[in-house]
Amino acid sequence: MRRPARLRPLLALALAALSSACDYRRGALDPISPEALTISILWWVFFWTALFVFTGVLVALAFALYRGRSRGKSSDARAELTPDAALERRTERAVTLASAVSVVILASLLVASVFSGRAIFRAPQAPFHAKVIAHQWWWEIHYQGKTASDIVITANELHLPAGIPVDLELQSADVIHSLWLPNLHGKRDLIPSHTNHLVLRPTRPGRYDGHCAEFCGLQHARMELPVTVEPPEVFSRWLTQQRLPAAVPAAADARRGAELFTRGPCVLCHNVVGTEASATAGPDLTHVASRPFLAAGALQISPLNMRTWLTDPQAFKPGAQMPPTGLPPGELDDVVAYLETLR
Ligand code: CUA
Repeated sequence: MRRPARLRPLLALALAALSSACDYRRGALDPISPEALTISILWWVFFWTALFVFTGVLVALAFALYRGRSRGKSSDARAELTPDAALERRTERAVTLASAVSVVILASLLVASVFSGRAIFRAPQAPFHAKVIAHQWWWEIHYQGKTASDIVITANELHLPAGIPVDLELQSADVIHSLWLPNLHGKRDLIPSHTNHLVLRPTRPGRYDGHCAEFCGLQHARMELPVTVEPPEVFSRWLTQQRLPAAVPAAADARRGAELFTRGPCVLCHNVVGTEASATAGPDLTHVASRPFLAAGALQISPLNMRTWLTDPQAFKPGAQMPPTGLPPGELDDVVAYLETLR
C-alpha cells in the first residue's frame, strides 16, 4: 500500500527528531556546568521533599481512614454527637504541628530557590563573548573578533570552548524567545530592544541540546540550538575554519548551482561570505553543510534533506519565512550540489 504523500514529510520529521535525540545529550539532570549543577541539586531537593511530603500525607490519610472505620464500628450515634475533649485537643495539636511543618518546608524551599537563583547569576567575568539573536524561527550567532573581518556569523548551532567562561549576549529580532541549554544553564529570555546576558561555563566536551523555551509562534517547537562543547584548541580550529569565505566550487554542477544561487531568489535573504549573496533576512549559509541540522533542527543536514527542504519548506515548517524555490528539478540538484560545498 502506498503511504499517503501528506504523511511523508511528517514521517521524515519524526525520523529526523529521533536521530537528533540519539546524537545530542539532553537534560537538566545531566549538568556540565556549575550553574546547571546548582539547578539540578535544587531540582533533587524539591523532588525528594515533595516525595517525602506526599508519602507522609498518604500515610496519614490511610491511618485516619483506618481509625475512622474502626471507631465507626464500635461507637453509637449519640457518642458521635458528643465531642470528645481529649480527642479534639489531640486533633488541634496535630493540625497546628502539620501547618507549622508545612510553613517550615515551604520557607526552606523558597530560601533554597532564592539562593540557587542568586548563585547561578553571580557568574564571573567571561573572557569570551558571543551574541545570540533569536528570529522566528532560527538562531543567529556572532562570535567576536579583534577586527570587523574577524567576526564570525553563523546560524542554528553554537560551539563553545570547554573550561572557558563565555558571555552570551542575548537579543531578539522580533518577538520574545527564551534560550534554554538544559545541560548548561537555566532559561533566559531574548527580548526585542533589550540585551540579556547568560554566562556559560561548560566543563565537559560533548554535544548537547538547546531549545527555544518561550512560545514564539507557529514554529516555536522547531527552534533548536544544538551546542557543541569542545576543547579550546578544537574550538579555535573550528572558529578559524568558519572565518574563511566560501570555497569556489570545482565541480560543474556545483558551479552551475552557485550561479543559480547568486542570480536567483536565494540572495534576497541569505549571506554567503565571498560571494555576492549578502542579505541578512535568513540564516548565513557560508558553512551551512558543516552544520548538523537544517532549519533550526527541522531536518538533519544531508543532500536529500536539503533538496526536500528547498522543494517545499512549508511542508516541514509551516509559517516559516522561507518560500519554495520554484526551481525545476535539474537546477534544484545543482543548487544542492553547491550548498553541499559550503563546508
Ligand atoms: Cu523562539 Cu519559541
